Formats: sequence, C-alpha cells, structure tokens
Amino acid sequence: MRVLVVGSGGREHALVWSIAASPLATEIYCAPGNAGIAEDAICVPIQATDVEGLVAFAQKERIDLVVIGPEASLAAGLADALEKEGLLAFGPSAKATEIESSKGYMKDLCARIGVPTAAYKRFNDREKAAAYIREEGAPIVVKADGLAAGKGVVVAQTVEEALKALDACFDGSFGDAGAEVVIEECLEGEEVSFFALVDGDHALPFSSAQDHKRAFDGDKGPNTGGMGAYSPAPVMTEEMTETVMSTIVRPIVEAMKEEGRPFKGTLFAGLMMTVDGPKVIEFNARFGDPETQAILPRLRSDFLPALVVAAEGGLKHFDLRWKTESCLTVVMAAKGYPGAYQKGTVIRNVESANAIRGVTVFHAGTVQTDNDLLSAGGRVLAVTGEGSDFLEARERAYAGVEAIDWEDGFWRSDIGDRALK
Ligand code: AMP
Ligand code: GLY
Repeated sequence: MRVLVVGSGGREHALVWSIAASPLATEIYCAPGNAGIAEDAICVPIQATDVEGLVAFAQKERIDLVVIGPEASLAAGLADALEKEGLLAFGPSAKATEIESSKGYMKDLCARIGVPTAAYKRFNDREKAAAYIREEGAPIVVKADGLAAGKGVVVAQTVEEALKALDACFDGSFGDAGAEVVIEECLEGEEVSFFALVDGDHALPFSSAQDHKRAFDGDKGPNTGGMGAYSPAPVMTEEMTETVMSTIVRPIVEAMKEEGRPFKGTLFAGLMMTVDGPKVIEFNARFGDPETQAILPRLRSDFLPALVVAAEGGLKHFDLRWKTESCLTVVMAAKGYPGAYQKGTVIRNVESANAIRGVTVFHAGTVQTDNDLLSAGGRVLAVTGEGSDFLEARERAYAGVEAIDWEDGFWRSDIGDRALK
C-alpha cells in the first residue's frame, strides 16, 4: 500500500513509525513531516492545510490511504475533498470534526442524548458572565470559546480568580477566541484521554493515556499542548472501558450517524473520572499529541489494516492486540514554551538516546541542516520509554532524555508520578 500521512508533529512521527512497521506498507509519504519523520518516510513540502495540494499529490502518487493527523486539516475539509475524488481517507469530514471545533455543537449533542459532561453557560456580555460567576461560586472554569490551543482555559479556585480570567478574555488576550466565554462547572477527579477507532457506524476501543498539560513539575505553570503522557491509564480497567463505550462513545457515534454526519477516524474523549462516573471534558476528532507517542509502541497488531478498515467500514469484525508493556513519553520543549521561544537551536545525541534499549525518540519541531539537527517549534522531541511496568518505562524515557544534549530545551521531571503512586 502507498500511504500518505498528513502533519508534522510528534504524533505524526509515531503514526509514520507504526505504519512503517507494517509489511503491507510499500511506500510512505508525509506532508510536510519533520527531520525524524524523514528517516521513516519521504517528506513532501505540502502544508497540512493545503487541501488542493494534498489531493493533487495523492492523485498523482496513486495513494491508497491518507492518514490525517492534525485537527486543522480535518476542519479545512481534507477528508471530504479526498473522498470526493474517490481517495481513501482516515479522518472525519469537516462536519463531523465539529465535535472538536465547535464547543456549542458538542455540548448541545451531549445534552440532547444524555452523555455526561460539565454543566455550562455561554456569554458574550462581561457583566452577565460576572454575575453568573458570583452566583455559582468557585471552583469554576472560565474558557475562551473557539480554538485557543488549550491556553484559553482557567480552572479558578476563587471567584476573584475567575473574574480576572473573565477580564483577560474580554480584554482580548486570546484575540477573537475570547469574544465569547464559556463558564463551566468544575469537574473533579482524574483526567484520562480515551481513544476509539470509528468507521461511521461502529466504534472499536483503541487505548487510553494520561497527559500532563501544565508546563512545569507538580502541574504548575500555564497549560500546554501536553508535556508528557503514559499509557495505558491505570484507571481504565476493562469494566471502565465498557462504561465509557456504552455511556459516551457509542451514543455519540450513533447520534452523529443519525444526524447525517457519520464520524470516521479517531474519536478522542477527554474524560474526568468523577465520583459520579466518567464525564466528558472535551472531544477531539484525531489522535492525541503526546498520547499517541505513548500508545502506538504498545500495539502488537499491524496498525495499517486497522486504519484501512476504519476508513472503509468493517470495524465490527475487527480486533486489535496489545502488548502487556507500559509506555511513557517525555516531551522536550524549547525554553519559553508555551510563550515565546527561540527556534534554530542545536540538538545533539538523539542517536545515543535511540540506541538505549526500549527508547524511541519521536520528533516534533525539528529540521535537519547539512550539519545539525535544529529545533523548529515549541514542542521539539517526545522521548518514549517502553518497559515491563511504568517504573521501567519511566527510567528508560528519562535515560533517553539525559542522553540528548540540548541546552535550549526543558522538560518536566515528574511524568508518570501519578501512575507510580
Ligand atoms: P480544554 O482546553 O477544554 O481541554 O481544557 C484544558 C484543561 O483544563 C483540561 O485538560 C482540564 O485539565 C481543565 N478543564 C477543562 N474543563 C474543565 C472542567 N469543566 N472541570 C475541570 N477541569 C477542566
Ligand atoms: N494532548 C492533548 C491533545 O492532543 O489534544
């Protein structure tokens, strides 16, 4: 099979790496890719949101399957455009992607079919929002509506903090994304990322992970795209997986099919495990980053047929096998991330980390020049360790991190603490 993976992050490196292990893959392309991906695939300089360019490339290269990584490509209608030309795509239509890109659609859908999620109200008037906060009291969550890259959320412990977050939204800290504010009930519990493969009709539980969203140790500092993850999430027992599938995933898949916007691809449920059971914080229409870097090394089955069957239909009769090993990934980010940071700083010894038993380094924001590997983004590497338990996985991941020489990088030193407790 000739496969095209779209995207350039650590998630896409893990996708390419996993597909490359399939005996069915004859040629793998990635658009636009990064320095690490270039070792496993042919990188082509087409941007992930250049729908026309990607469709033309897939036609010209007779691509059998396009695997779409980022949400922006999905929201731009890449899956729709590919299917219109008779090309096979793994990833939902733009309409189905609204489960991620439109909080309003997601919340209304959950309310209509009774999927458990946090109670919420939307405001575009500062005074009314402030009154609501005072009425509800703290803790309370203030979110800039729209896509603010996970940075527009404040979980306020006091009313004053919530009002300050409200001011930041209305004073334009998040650009247009803050013109409308969502005020949400604060859910308490452990957070889990749960993934299911969906073919429009049927959902197959894929795997689970736990992310570390804050920039610094002890869950301090600003929210980021994710600073590390481990898989599987210990709270996701077989019984809990069935609860999530029957109360959350299957009702959503069924409702979306009935609405005429069937969901195909990866349904990623961001869950809070509350005392009243799992509740949805958000849905994403794609694989997680860095969750995918901690999940795919655990997959024993060939990944490629799973993607094909999800794209074509037929998951009902499909199953996957997983290793018993645990995985843990540590993100190395540019100093300053998620704020301003420098690009073009030199990274050395990635090959030494890769040479350690059980360690795989996935690249995110990297470029290779004639002589050097350079940083080219905020999150730059994801160093994954695989082990017989979380302790061993973590030792290996951090041994990998220590082997890498990058003066301008930083990382959290407490990834997986919760799993080890
Ligand atoms: P989001 O961008 O909606 O995923 O939110 C970012 C993070 O804020 C989540 O991963 C949670 O840690 C936290 N968060 C969001 N909504 C809630 C909520 N209703 N209750 C508690 N924490 C939340
Ligand atoms: N790590 C969270 C996400 O991919 O959205």
